[in-house]
Amino acid sequence: MAIPESFLDDLMSRTDIVDLISSYVPLQKKGGRYWACCPFHSEKTPSFSVTPDKQMYYCFGCHKGGGAVSFVMEEEGVGFTDAVAILAKRAGIPMPEYNEDEGQRKRRERLLELNKAAARWFHANLSTPQAEPGRRYFARRGLSKRTITNFGLGYAFPEWDALLKAMQTKGYTKRELLDAGLAVSTDKGRIYDRFRGRVMFPIIDLRGNVIGFGGRVLDDTKPKYLNSPDTLIYNKSRNLFAMNIVKKSKAGQIILTEGYMDTIALHQAGFDCAVASLGTSLTEDHARLLAKYTKEIVLSYDSDEAGVAAAKRAIGILNRVGLNVKVLKVVGAKDPDEFLKQYGPSAFQRLLDQSENQAEYQLLQIQKKYDLTDDEQRVRFLQEAAQFVALMPSPVEREVYGSRAARAAGVESKVMSEEVERQRRQKSWRTRRQEERKALTPAANHQPDQRSFRYEHVRSALAEEGVIRLVLMDPSLFERLGSLKEEQFSAPVLQHIFQLLRQRWEEGLESTLDSLSARLAPEELSHLTRILQTPERQGSAEQALADYVSTIQSEYRKRTMSGDGDLLTLIRDKRSRNNT
Ligand code: GTP
Ligand code: MN
Repeated sequence: MAIPESFLDDLMSRTDIVDLISSYVPLQKKGGRYWACCPFHSEKTPSFSVTPDKQMYYCFGCHKGGGAVSFVMEEEGVGFTDAVAILAKRAGIPMPEYNEDEGQRKRRERLLELNKAAARWFHANLSTPQAEPGRRYFARRGLSKRTITNFGLGYAFPEWDALLKAMQTKGYTKRELLDAGLAVSTDKGRIYDRFRGRVMFPIIDLRGNVIGFGGRVLDDTKPKYLNSPDTLIYNKSRNLFAMNIVKKSKAGQIILTEGYMDTIALHQAGFDCAVASLGTSLTEDHARLLAKYTKEIVLSYDSDEAGVAAAKRAIGILNRVGLNVKVLKVVGAKDPDEFLKQYGPSAFQRLLDQSENQAEYQLLQIQKKYDLTDDEQRVRFLQEAAQFVALMPSPVEREVYGSRAARAAGVESKVMSEEVERQRRQKSWRTRRQEERKALTPAANHQPDQRSFRYEHVRSALAEEGVIRLVLMDPSLFERLGSLKEEQFSAPVLQHIFQLLRQRWEEGLESTLDSLSARLAPEELSHLTRILQTPERQGSAEQALADYVSTIQSEYRKRTMSGDGDLLTLIRDKRSRNNT
C-alpha cells in the first residue's frame, strides 16, 4: 500500500461524510442519521443511511456500507488509491508522491507474465504422478481431457511453497508473488503459497491474459473455493469466468451461471455461451460487459432460495443496461452442473427452449385479444396481463414478464409492477403474511447478506460480531480478551476482520472504516458496517466483552468435542488398532 496511514488520517480529519455524500444524493436528517434513496440500487423509499458520528454509511436495502473512501470507490467505480486521490483533491491537499505511470505499467506486465507462468505450471502439474488426487477429482466431476485443456485447468500441490519455489527459479520475486495474490504472508513475515492442495481454474480476460485464479478443495473442507484477491490486474467485479471463450460464441445469447463448475459443465455439454460471476454477486460493470456481446441473457442460477434471490437482483441490474433477461428454471437438481449430470444436454436444451416460452406464449395470447393502439384497451390488457403475472410464484418471473408486458403496451415497467403488486395484495394477504413471518425469523435475519459469508454457528458468530464491535469502538479492549484466539472464531469472514483489527492494533495503527477499505474486500467492509448497525448494550463494555468471549469459547469447545469428529477418529483409530 503506497499511501501512508498518516496521510490518510489527515485526509479523513478534513473529510466529512455527510458533506461528501450529499454532493451525490440529497440527504434528509431524521434523528441522529441522514437518509436518502440509495445511490447503489433503485428504490422509492429511502433505506440508505449516513451516521455522522461514526462517519459511516449503510443501506438497509442492498446492504452496502462503509466509510468515505469506500463510498467514493463504489460510486466512482475506482480502486482505493484513486478514491483517496479524489478525496484529496476535494479537500485541497496534495497526494503524497509516488510515481505510477511507467513503473505501474511495468509492474502490471510482470504480474501478467507471472500469472501466465503460474497457470502453465498448475496445468503441467496435472501430468505428474503427485497430481493423482487432482486428476481423480476432475474425473469424478466428469471433466474430459479436452475440457481440462480448453480451460487450462490445473492442480496446486499441497506443499507450502511449491509454487513459490517454481516461480522463484523463473526469476520472480516473493514481492511479485504477493502482489499477484499467489502468495500470502503471515504477521511474522513468513511467505507461503495461497493455493495449496486445490484444483485450479485460471481466470482469463478478453485479451487472453491470465488475471487471476479460483481454487477448489478436493473434499468438504472450507473454504470450498479460494479466489485471487483483487490485484493490480484483477478485479472480480469487472471480470467474468469464461468470457474469453463466450465472446466468440454464435449462440446469440449468454447463459449466466453462479459457479465455475456450472459453466465448465455447460461448455462440455456443447453450450459454448456460458459464463459465471466469480464468487461475487453480479455488478453493473458485469452487466455492461455482457451487453457488449449480446442482447439476451439466460439466467441459470441455483434452484435454492438464495439462488432465486440472487437472480431477482441480477434481473434488475441486467435490465438497467438494456439486456433482455430470460430465466431458466433448473428443476430436479440444485444447479446446472448437477442437472446436466442427471438428465443430459438435450434435457437442458429443452429447459432452455421451453421453460420460459410457455409463459411468453400465454402472454402473447392475452396480448392478441387487445388493440394496443387504443388507450382504453391498453389499460385492459395491462390489467389482464397483471392478473396473469401476479399468479407467478417467483418474483423473478413476475419481474421478467411484468416488464415484457409493459414494453408491449409502451408503459414503464414500474407501472406494471405496481399493478401486479396491487393484484397480489388483493389476492391473499393471509399467505403473504405467513411468508413474511418466515422471512423475519431471527435465524434468517442474523445471516449475512453475502451468501459465501453464511454463518454455520449463529450463536458463536453473533458473539464474534460483538467482539468486533467492541474492539472497534475501544481498541484498548484488545488487552482484555484473555485466552480468546482467532482460531476459536467460527465464521471465516469475522475471523479475517478480527485478525486484521488485531494486527493493526499490534502495529499501533488506528482502525477506521476508511483505513480498512484498503485491506478488506467491499463485501467484507459492507458486512462489517452492517455489524456496526446493531447498538451495543448500555453499561459495561468489559462485562459485555467477557460474555461474548465466554460464548465463543464454549461454542468452540462444543464444536471441537463433537462436531469435527477429531475425537471420533481417535477412538476409531484406537479400536481398529486393538482389533488387529
Ligand atoms: P461445486 O461444489 O464445485 O459444484 O461448486 P458450485 O459452483 O456448485 O458451488 P456453489 O454453488 O456453492 O458456489 C457458487 C460459486 O460461489 C462458486 O463457483 C464460487 O465462485 C463461489 N464460492 C463458493 N464457495 C465459496 C467460498 O467458500 N469462498 C469464495 N470466495 N467463493 C465461493
Ligand atoms: Mn455445483
